[in-house]
Amino acid sequence: AATLNDLAEQHGRYFGSAVDNPELSDTAYADLLGSEFGATTPGNGMKWDATEPQQGVFDYTKGDEIVAFAEAHHLKVRGHTLLWHNQLPNWLTSRTWTADQLRAVLKNHIHNVVTHYRGKVFAWDVANEIMNDDGSYRQNIFYTTIGPGYIADALRWAHEADPHVKLYLNDYNIDGIGAKSNAYYTLIQRLKAQGVPIDGLGFQGHLALQYGFPDEVQQNLQRFADLGVDVAFTELDIRMTLPSDPTKLAEQADWYGRITRACLAVRRCVGITLWGYSDRHSWIPSVFPGEGAALPWDEYLQPKPAYYAIREALQ
Ligand code: G3I
Repeated sequence: AATLNDLAEQHGRYFGSAVDNPELSDTAYADLLGSEFGATTPGNGMKWDATEPQQGVFDYTKGDEIVAFAEAHHLKVRGHTLLWHNQLPNWLTSRTWTADQLRAVLKNHIHNVVTHYRGKVFAWDVANEIMNDDGSYRQNIFYTTIGPGYIADALRWAHEADPHVKLYLNDYNIDGIGAKSNAYYTLIQRLKAQGVPIDGLGFQGHLALQYGFPDEVQQNLQRFADLGVDVAFTELDIRMTLPSDPTKLAEQADWYGRITRACLAVRRCVGITLWGYSDRHSWIPSVFPGEGAALPWDEYLQPKPAYYAIREALQ
């Protein structure tokens, strides 16, 4: 039978799933990842604490492991992420930097990592989660030390190291129209006007049934596409309060179908990536106790109603 990625490819899209390095030793899980999907994203393996554990000392073991798996199974790889406020190494967070020093640190990191993965990843989440929910800039170490210009700098440095890779900003709670997605709209408009290399906006899509379906998803994707950037769902999962029951699973399936159809309706929506594809390996229960069951496959790797809803939307 056709896989989700086969069906997505008929529309010129990919269907992917993130993977964290330890999950590759779960052979049943890795087999399905390698056969069902057309793209993957390292869940942790390319983050700053993994790639530059000591200043100027780069370690590509984890990222390379996922790239090798991807190459063996013909998956494209999304690079995640060059700059984020979480999972920064201690050497970076445990001292104070001048703006010039931190700019040099950021430039060196981006140049090294992007150069290493040149030709191996098709896109980079250059800057992850740089806005607050109210649309103001997040006060991360880069913002407070360098100022808002760090975003354009990071994009330019990534472009210097690989002029062909697609450069994305990526965030959560921007799936619908609201203060946070409006802030990205303004930012991308300004970056474009200034000639800063920006190719896409990643919509993480960490949704939860209890908060309601985001407003006007398709219109939101379309307004960014109209600015001249690609869009993608990059970390999709749809959690619920446990235990799951048939009613919740049906609503979840409906949401997965709606997200898939919204993407297909927007020409520049290039693909959908799940943040892991099964309830067996998911970040949610440890971060949101009492919530979970967020993925289209259950903990036994059996497809749930959400899987069939995605198929139907892709057919
Ligand atoms: O590697 C250590 C291990 O040595 C230690 O024994 C263990 C004990 O807690 O922790 C391990 O590190 C964990 C790491 O994942 C690797 O498994 C961290 O505690 C844990 O916090 C970390 O969680 C990751 C999270 O980002 C960190 O913020 C999740 O796996 C990862 O899925 C999640 O991904 C993020 C995206 O990057 C950005 N968008 C949101 C998304 C979900 O939070």
